[in-house]
Amino acid sequence: MKAIRGATTVTADTPQQIRESVKELLGAIVAKNKLDFDNIICIMFSNTADIKSYYPAKAAREAGYSSCALYSSLEPEIEGALKLCIRVMVLVEGNAHPEHVYINEAKSLRKDITSILNIAVDGPAGSGKSTVSKLVAERLGILYLDTGAMYRALAYKCVKDNKDYGDKDVVKHITNKLNLKIQYKDGKQVTLLDGEDVSEFIRTPQVSLLASYVSTYSFVRQKMVALQREIAQKTSCILDGRDIGTNVLPGCKFKFYLTASAEVRATRRFEEDKAKGGRQTYEDVLYEINERDFQDKNRAVAPLKKAADAVEIDTSDMSIEEVVQEIITKIQEQI
Ligand code: DC
Repeated sequence: MKAIRGATTVTADTPQQIRESVKELLGAIVAKNKLDFDNIICIMFSNTADIKSYYPAKAAREAGYSSCALYSSLEPEIEGALKLCIRVMVLVEGNAHPEHVYINEAKSLRKDITSILNIAVDGPAGSGKSTVSKLVAERLGILYLDTGAMYRALAYKCVKDNKDYGDKDVVKHITNKLNLKIQYKDGKQVTLLDGEDVSEFIRTPQVSLLASYVSTYSFVRQKMVALQREIAQKTSCILDGRDIGTNVLPGCKFKFYLTASAEVRATRRFEEDKAKGGRQTYEDVLYEINERDFQDKNRAVAPLKKAADAVEIDTSDMSIEEVVQEIITKIQEQI
């Protein structure tokens, strides 16, 4: 069983407005949660004391919600509370993630749900950004956008087509023609290049270094940043990268900058590679990390750096869970 919450407001206490608002609210809950009427167990309403002209439960029955148990109750009068408000809790069978619905003036009750939430996570390779961002996304029920995958896809295209990535004009041509799409399958990011899922192919050490290289070109960054902003404007998401807080979303309210020593980061990447059956030595990995750090921090356009208003977290001696908790706590404090 799952419980779905929702609320709405009316502008005047009239039976007609209550009937319409209840119908609108329940309709939105059903649509957003893809509910089957047969799976609704009960619908419980509460309303503020300034609503006296009609029972929301009666309005629900009239709107066709007649096969489940319906109930209305009166809320205590709380100073400063939202006026003319109808709240609801819908109990349904199943355990899919509940999508709560707050509409009209009631949107202000749950800004965490009703407004688009963007979280920027920047930091060098191996600082834990992607592992932590994926978990934060899962817990907050938002998307995880791996912006590095976009630069990697371009680098992979250069490798695959055997193009000279050192030639600016060649890379410009490829960038202009790049057929790159980011999609989500079961909540997981899928990177599509020319329609093909390249999510796994873009993770090789060669592509890592090359992604860092091609990301120094300003025309490359312009293209990727536009795509990232387009996604972030439409969707609540946590984005990880190098320049999210400084350049992609400078006005973002939640910014984090993860760090760890190069040795700790190299050890993490070395262990990951080994677990996947890779053959890189620790020295190879440390070299690659240092090369990428240098390239990412010293490029002319949007180099890797902590935004002045970002919260810095040194993850060297922290567990993944500790970092996730610290980020979620900081966000919840400010929502
Ligand atoms: O996060 P990652 O390791 O997948 O990123 C690969 C490279 O892409 C990284 O070395 C630099 C570049 N990059 C970038 O310049 N800006 C971003 N927002 C993300 C990645």
